[in-house]
Amino acid sequence: MFSGPILLFGGPYSNLQATEALKVEAKRLGIPADHCICTGDVVAYGADPQATVDLIRDWGVHVILGNCEQSLANDADDCGCGFEEGSACESLSEHWYQFAKSTLNKDSLDWMNGLPPMLRFTYAGQNVLVLHGGFDNINQFVFASTSKTFKRRQLGAAKADIIIGGHSGIPFTQGLKDRKIWHNAGTIGLPANDGTTDVWYSLLQKSDTGATFSHHRLAYDFSKSADRMRAKNLAEGYAQAMEKGLWPSLDILPHQERKQTGEALILPTPL
Ligand SMILES: [Fe+2]
Repeated sequence: MFSGPILLFGGPYSNLQATEALKVEAKRLGIPADHCICTGDVVAYGADPQATVDLIRDWGVHVILGNCEQSLANDADDCGCGFEEGSACESLSEHWYQFAKSTLNKDSLDWMNGLPPMLRFTYAGQNVLVLHGGFDNINQFVFASTSKTFKRRQLGAAKADIIIGGHSGIPFTQGLKDRKIWHNAGTIGLPANDGTTDVWYSLLQKSDTGATFSHHRLAYDFSKSADRMRAKNLAEGYAQAMEKGLWPSLDILPHQERKQTGEALILPTPL
């Protein structure tokens, strides 16, 4: 199914400028669309839900169903992120969700409805499973600090050597016992709460030791994305997040990731 390097990315989040920049980056790297995989949430906080869906579909990359697509396709009342009732995340999400819902055409919703929840393949002799949140739960937040026992159980239930997840928004690659790996490419629609405006993608490549991940920053025209959000009267918190690299709410973050707020991420390449 896949021969050369694979480009992985999460959460375009209706951020058209970042998605365009990633497409240019894939071309620069010589990675064809059928070797690019998005872990879902094509639509969320940003100003251009419809144009971002159109770009992703026109580009022709693999897309895994995110909770945002699932909720929109099912005409649900909220994004299904799993935010706690009354939390800042919940109230911020109501705003963009209603905007996206009123903006997307039926063809896009039908496309979302047909997205696969998972993608399984063999790469460098290892069983890889791509999903959105967790194996049992599409909106499971899995971070670097999430317990290794939990991750190993998920890998076991999934019968996978490697799980590539999305949803939680902060990139990491974690090696576990018996050469199992949990990987998250981060998102291209919002910075990683690290005080920089860059967004993140990753590459999966074959090496002498098997499948190898590397994380990469991507600069894009964040001012334009933020300006477009303001022009559409979307929540100021996410426009500012694009400009400052800090999330408007830390509700979903565990203690460790919360503590790293504003610290520029330095991700070690390859395991
Ligand atoms: Fe999500």
